[in-house]
Amino acid sequence: MDKLIIKGGISLKGEIRIAGAKNSALPILAATLLTQETIQICNLPHLFDITTMLELLGCMGVQPIIDEKLNVEVDSSTIKHFSAPYELVKTMRASILVLGPLLTRYGQAEVALPGGCAIGSRPVNLHISALQAMGADIVVEDGYIKASVKGKLNGAHIFMDLVTVTGTENVMMAACLAEGQTVIENAAREPEVVDLANCLVKMGADISGQGTDTIIINGVKDLHGCSYSVMPDRIETGTYLIAAAATRGHIKLKDTRPDILESLLSKLEQVGAEIKLGDNWIELNMHGKRPQAVSLRTAPYPAFPTDMQAQFTALNSVAAGTGSITETVFENRFMHVHEMNRMGALIKVEGNTVIVQGVDALKGAPVMATDLRASASLIIAGLVSENETSVDRIYHIDRGYECIEEKLQLLGAQIRRVPS
Ligand code: UD1
Repeated sequence: MDKLIIKGGISLKGEIRIAGAKNSALPILAATLLTQETIQICNLPHLFDITTMLELLGCMGVQPIIDEKLNVEVDSSTIKHFSAPYELVKTMRASILVLGPLLTRYGQAEVALPGGCAIGSRPVNLHISALQAMGADIVVEDGYIKASVKGKLNGAHIFMDLVTVTGTENVMMAACLAEGQTVIENAAREPEVVDLANCLVKMGADISGQGTDTIIINGVKDLHGCSYSVMPDRIETGTYLIAAAATRGHIKLKDTRPDILESLLSKLEQVGAEIKLGDNWIELNMHGKRPQAVSLRTAPYPAFPTDMQAQFTALNSVAAGTGSITETVFENRFMHVHEMNRMGALIKVEGNTVIVQGVDALKGAPVMATDLRASASLIIAGLVSENETSVDRIYHIDRGYECIEEKLQLLGAQIRRVPS
């Protein structure tokens, strides 16, 4: 298992390009199960989670092909098994995304029940109840969700009790081939849901309302092949912007989308960053100033994303003043706080809020990553530390950040990967 060694105290400067979005690439890969024809997916990020999803398709008998431009072509006509085994689901909860496509296209699916994880219990009850409302028989036994339907699923009017991203995606994919109309109310409005919907529409689906809280899907008989380019990763974009603001740096990110980052960009302006935008680039300049602490609250899109909460906590830990950060999406997403306090941060947890009193600089220490975004926050903490920080268990980071140490090196950071 590798770890990252970071020598902090350097302001990030330079330009890098942003990869395709993990959280839209994963459902789009699952959507390839909805047609017999070939889907070509471009701008896939090179990440461990993507490899896991390709492996999952592989163990069902589908053999994705990587072409010379590193695009992936998936032809699911060779599928033989309709199950997602626990070995894969336990490494990647997003494996649940094959449930809707398998059930609606093949009338059967067995997906291991994802367990709890480092950020909370994360049930999938809303995925299950929505598919049941569409006529699926579902039992949960032996640790598996066993789903079947005689004939086709039926369209249904579904109200999601909570905003769930992968839940909305699962139901939307299932509804594409269902009989009649499905309406999803209180649907997730995340840009990744829109990206999946746009890909499904390119495959011949009849979907409207994506990006609002009511999505309407009219089932069609078949979907067909297409070529689709995955949107840029807004969380990767945000992570580098926060890292640059925390280190008082000046960076430009290319191949990204400023229009889906408004909540973050307005917080970064409050922090004191000068921000310039183009259609597909963002430039952030702190002019060497120390960031000001800001307060925020996570919530579903378009509010501040939970996936950037930990990184902002790292920024606040070296900002001038005190900021509070409230987490409303997941129940236990503060594991990084204890590690940051070991680095000299002054952070108090009070229920689902952390109060962060900024200090001049953190002090490097050996720390341990507990989940994907927590790992990113510990790297930012390392970048704003005096002396050396080592971040252990970085397999988490490889799940969701493409070439993170190379990109940070391009921005001038002193960071290297070593075997632990
Ligand atoms: C997705 C993202 C993840 C992000 C999260 C919230 C992917 C692959 N992952 O995860 O990066 O942090 O959205 O933006 O896109 N819930 C239930 N029952 C359900 C489903 C969800 O109670 O059936 C709860 C969850 O426990 C959580 C909240 O709803 O408290 C939101 O979770 P959800 O949006 O489903 O997260 P994911 O789709 O798993």
